[in-house]
Amino acid sequence: MDVIKTEQLYEGKAKKVFATTDPALVIVSYKDDATAFDGLKKGTIAGKGAVNNRMSNYLMGLLEKEGVPTHFVEELSERETLVRKVEIVKLEVIIRNISAGSFSKRFGVEEGIVFDSPTIEFSYKNDDLHDPLMNAYHAIALGVATSEEIETIKALAFKVNEVLKAYFLGIGVKLVDFKLEFGRTPDGKIVLADEISPDTCRFWDAVTNEKLDKDRFRRDLGNVEGAYAEMLRRVFG
Ligand code: TMP
Ligand code: ASP
Repeated sequence: MDVIKTEQLYEGKAKKVFATTDPALVIVSYKDDATAFDGLKKGTIAGKGAVNNRMSNYLMGLLEKEGVPTHFVEELSERETLVRKVEIVKLEVIIRNISAGSFSKRFGVEEGIVFDSPTIEFSYKNDDLHDPLMNAYHAIALGVATSEEIETIKALAFKVNEVLKAYFLGIGVKLVDFKLEFGRTPDGKIVLADEISPDTCRFWDAVTNEKLDKDRFRRDLGNVEGAYAEMLRRVFG
């Protein structure tokens, strides 16, 4: 692909985004930097950028085959990927299959309750406000998304869950919960964006329930790099 990287547009907590010579495309560059609790906890997870880049691209490819439109265009290197330039919808979309994390805290239940059907929740992507929980009515009232976009996002998020839950079970991993972000293309289409990785999903070993995701960093459980490497090994063999 004869697209050339130009100026940096944005630096987030885990990725940088660069413009390219094609105005419709940007390059995402994955960092090893890790943060938790709204950036309060900071660290580095060696090799994380490469794991997240490769895993996310693989999963987006899988999802495209199953009819989920994504921003993915082409993997450029271990850490860099060409994606469609989209306007990110300011919602974090969280699907849960098993209780954990903020769900367990909010509702006062232990982690590990397997739900009969998955749950969905939105939070408002706004660091200053600490990403508050937001329902569909709030999102529509504030102009974060239209009701039609919300319906599309919900349907795509549940579809992603069905595809990924089955895929991960096949490699011995329970997909506990995950966060998705969506974008709008210039022609107003909703596509899956951001990343799908151990940073944005909870993965538990299907047999031992060992945590194989960023909770090892958030909770100081040790062997953080080992968990990311193990997930890469399970996906790519
Ligand atoms: P939670 O239980 O802390 O709400 O997290 C739910 C899922 O969302 C979990 O898989 C981790 C992911 N997540 C992110 O990707 N980014 C975030 O900022 C947070 C808080 C959670
Ligand atoms: N990445 C988020 C932050 O820095 C939180 C998390 O993933 O736990 O705040």
